Amino acid sequence: MTVDLDWENLGFNYSKLPFRYISYYKDGKWDEGQLTEDATLHISEASPALHYGQEAFEGLKAYRTSDGNVQLFRPQCNVERMNNTCKRLCVPTIDPDDALQAIETIVEVDKDWVPYEYGTSLYIRPFIIATDPHLGVHPSKTYIFCIILSPVGSYYEAGINPVKIMVEREYVRCVKGGTGIAKAGGNYAASLIGQKKADEMGYAQVLWLDGVHRKYIDEVGAMNIFFVIDGVVVTPDLTDGNILPGVTRRSCIELLKSWGMPVEERKVSIDEVLEAHDNGHLNEAFGTGTAAVISPVGELYDNGKSYVINNNEIGPVAKKLYDTLTGIQWGKIEDKLGWTVKIK
Ligand code: COI
Repeated sequence: MTVDLDWENLGFNYSKLPFRYISYYKDGKWDEGQLTEDATLHISEASPALHYGQEAFEGLKAYRTSDGNVQLFRPQCNVERMNNTCKRLCVPTIDPDDALQAIETIVEVDKDWVPYEYGTSLYIRPFIIATDPHLGVHPSKTYIFCIILSPVGSYYEAGINPVKIMVEREYVRCVKGGTGIAKAGGNYAASLIGQKKADEMGYAQVLWLDGVHRKYIDEVGAMNIFFVIDGVVVTPDLTDGNILPGVTRRSCIELLKSWGMPVEERKVSIDEVLEAHDNGHLNEAFGTGTAAVISPVGELYDNGKSYVINNNEIGPVAKKLYDTLTGIQWGKIEDKLGWTVKIK
């Protein structure tokens, strides 16, 4: 099967590849799973995934290394998080070894579609949907676990160039005790209106504030956020359960600590950040995520005022993290931390 792709201009788009992995859950257990060429899911019109959002997903990537091989980056973290999302949404978990094996198998089968250009990759999207045909609001007894793949380039058109971000004061993405900690489709549906507003105003994304006090920083678009204030790296902590425990977030914190840099996971208020900017103490701001890796914030816009950060240039901390993470992911620098998993 040929896949008609513009390899030179891959954006963050879906392309239908020859195979996907699919497994069914019924009678209290997951089946063996299989590869299929059928890119259409056959589910009831009454599926609770469609009506009540009983759905969990993940996002990770396979990278082409310079020797032509293919590797994954910390896939165990995604599997662990997928099972945590499942628990939050009353979806049956999957044996971590089986889930990992399924990811490795489908990537191996479709590995010709892992692009070669530095910065491009094969995006891996595992997801689980509830499939019982019922109308009542209660957990389904049947599910589909599927893994689809798509070759991708940069998430943002700007690539690693800084993006302009609007502080969102009207809508919130998630609340304490809600599903922010989970990778649930509904979180992203709730975020679309902010993204639309930002887009209309000429901004790439929004900076979300917490839903209770409306002052503590939550996430930026679909990414975790970091600030460098007076040489200290600060990022919102995960204790309230409204922030996604990003694999890139975790990797950045671990790298920064290994370099001896001060890192604080704590509440970060928007006032603290804007004040630090005005006093000349805000050195950098950047988002982290699997899709974009590191996305520097060059400008924040809030209440009619623009706050330019680091002359709208990528800062040294974001740059070092980007170079190190992408270096490990694309196999250009030695993976001393054992984060990569080679595909056969
Ligand atoms: C990520 O960067 O990890 C994301 O979750 C973005 C994805 C929803 C497209």
